[in-house]
Amino acid sequence: MGCDNVNMNRANRCGMIQCPRGTRDFLPDELEKRRFYEGILRGVAQRFGFREIETPIFEEAELFILRSGPGVMKELYNFKDKGDRDIALRPEMTAPVIRAFVNGMGNLARPIKVFYFGQCFRYERPQSGRYREFFQFGAEIIGAATPETDAEAIAMAASMIRALGMKNYKLRIGHIGVLRQRIADIGVPQDRETVATVLQKLDKKLYDEARPLLQEMGVKDADIDGLFKLTETVGGTSVLDQVPGEAGDYLKQVVAYLDAMGVRDVEIDLGVVRGLDYYTGMVFEAEAPVLGAEKQICGGGSYTLSELFGGDKVFSTGFAIGFDRILLAMEREGIEYHQQGLDAYVIAVSDDVRRDAFKVAAQLREAGVTADIDIMERKLGKALKYAADIRARKVVIVGADELARGKVVVRDLDSGEQTEVALTELAAQFRA
Ligand code: HAM
Repeated sequence: MGCDNVNMNRANRCGMIQCPRGTRDFLPDELEKRRFYEGILRGVAQRFGFREIETPIFEEAELFILRSGPGVMKELYNFKDKGDRDIALRPEMTAPVIRAFVNGMGNLARPIKVFYFGQCFRYERPQSGRYREFFQFGAEIIGAATPETDAEAIAMAASMIRALGMKNYKLRIGHIGVLRQRIADIGVPQDRETVATVLQKLDKKLYDEARPLLQEMGVKDADIDGLFKLTETVGGTSVLDQVPGEAGDYLKQVVAYLDAMGVRDVEIDLGVVRGLDYYTGMVFEAEAPVLGAEKQICGGGSYTLSELFGGDKVFSTGFAIGFDRILLAMEREGIEYHQQGLDAYVIAVSDDVRRDAFKVAAQLREAGVTADIDIMERKLGKALKYAADIRARKVVIVGADELARGKVVVRDLDSGEQTEVALTELAAQFRA
């Protein structure tokens, strides 16, 4: 990574302009790796029957404020544009996708299954695995509210994590409806803001802060203890019998569908609360313990948002993988990425064959071979060193003598092995 300003001191002694705090440049090696893994996620999404959607990077700030929990505003990158409109860089992509659904996807056959990949912005304190500009790979199933829907979303998230080669991760499934119901039953005022504040404390397990807050609202100590205990309902699928109301039966069905799809490494955890406040039913998170504090690599659940944006109330389920975080976790797990390099690097031995060398390069490229060519008029030794630097697997050396016989020299940079190859067979040999 070129400019990784996460921990960088903004004071810049040599006056060089750096990328803004919490953002990064992705240099070619890094970006090649990211594109490769993005491709793997894309493949999984397509195999699950999802189609891609893209929405603007900035939106009317109201879109995010409307459904926001108390934490959202302080993390929002918002500003007035030249037309005095309140604009925000998207902190996540669920609200934009649902806005796009309300605006123009209402007539599509339901459920609508879409996935997306792109950057999000949150004004957070940067640290390892936490950036101000970060990338999410996410998916939404719009217009369905069944255990099958939730199972599909969880199964796809699990498939993605596995497809990337990760072994050490935990998948926790909860049900926010259970906590919301309990909070209502024990007398917490039911305005959005208050409920969100209580849920946020429970999400971060800040019981010491939640207790006085609940006491102030007149909630009895025994009920507070009961609420805290509920969030500590954690374990294998056997704890589903302890889940009150219909949620237990619902989650049993979700788990049964997951089992049918071979997703068995799940844990039930009623303490999964989620930071965003639009969830209504099943919620889930995946974490990678190797990451320490910022270990959450994926989060999602079922929710309704469309009614806030002027549409009918439509149930949806989705999730987003923190792309930067999951790559970090893979690195820590020792999953290695091998740079792809180039098939061929073409070198002209002398000026009189330089144009012929370009002809050779063009012929290779035309045939679908990745080929680069010396454009610096370097001597053979230096050109070979450059070829190794850019990870060319073979060099094609164009010399006058060989050319006179209709041939070039191909050298394998790994083995050092060198052979003469007829120009008429060159491309075919590379393709093979
Ligand atoms: P979220 O949990 O806020 O959910 O974000 C999803 C993932 O993005 C997190 O699990 C984390 O890996 C990653 N992430 C969040 N903030 C940062 C950051 N500052 N730096 C690096 N990675 C970060 C959502 O955004 C929901 N829209 C997910 C969803 C989709 N729910 C339903 N549909």
